Amino acid sequence: MRGRIIGLVPTMGNIHAGHLALLERCRQECDFAVATIFVNPLQFGPAEDFADYPRTLEQDRELLAANGCDLLLHPSVAEVYGDNPECSTQVRVPGLSGRLCGASRPGHFDGVATVVTRLLNYAGADVAYFGLKDYQQFLIIRKLATDLGMATRIAGVETVREPDGLALSSRNGYLSHTERAAAPALHRVLREMARRIETGARDFESIAAAGRRELAAAGFRIDYLEIRNADSLDPATAEQSNLIILAAAHLGRTRLIDNLRIDAGGA
Ligand code: PAF
Repeated sequence: MRGRIIGLVPTMGNIHAGHLALLERCRQECDFAVATIFVNPLQFGPAEDFADYPRTLEQDRELLAANGCDLLLHPSVAEVYGDNPECSTQVRVPGLSGRLCGASRPGHFDGVATVVTRLLNYAGADVAYFGLKDYQQFLIIRKLATDLGMATRIAGVETVREPDGLALSSRNGYLSHTERAAAPALHRVLREMARRIETGARDFESIAAAGRRELAAAGFRIDYLEIRNADSLDPATAEQSNLIILAAAHLGRTRLIDNLRIDAGGA
């Protein structure tokens, strides 16, 4: 592959238009597009959906090939972690990994950081593409690549949404008919919060509290809804302009996440 730019699209499969947007960017910027499908046991908690996670390999293979993927890697758990996974090398990005999704899913980001480090190395990727719906994951991967002196550039790709605003996710398939009808409220609440901040409101705690009330009224059980600095994920302060609203909330058994970046233009 000397002289050719290798791009990587890591996925857990169940390919949808969000993944295809990553692949499209990859094909625009790289000479050779590699995708991986690996449902990574290390990033699921004991009570989470590892066993139920949708596995649609044949359909995924066809979709990826039809959309210009040059090589699909689909390793087994033993190929990634060896015969003794507990003793294999792990990667951890402290600080960023412990908050927000990391607080409610302990160990999740250690599993992500560990597998992504491996996948980047397997593919010899020059660039790797990640969806910005998983914004915290994106920041963690970008930091691990920097900290470990990796040559891979970590690229973020905008969230793809349904016409009603719901961010695409493999987990949307878990939603019942009624839950699916309620789900767009998540993005709607974020947009309303963003509108208030962009028009000058700076009382972030009361804006977030109002957002939480609206989400609860729409039937969500809230994990977090926060306004943070978009680089550090520290709580936002009134003089900052580079902000992000991040949310995780459950509808029934489905945990949805979303975020919205805001340029608050300074105070
Ligand atoms: O975002 C995902 O699909 C996964 O967390 C990733 C990056 C493929 C690692 O397993």
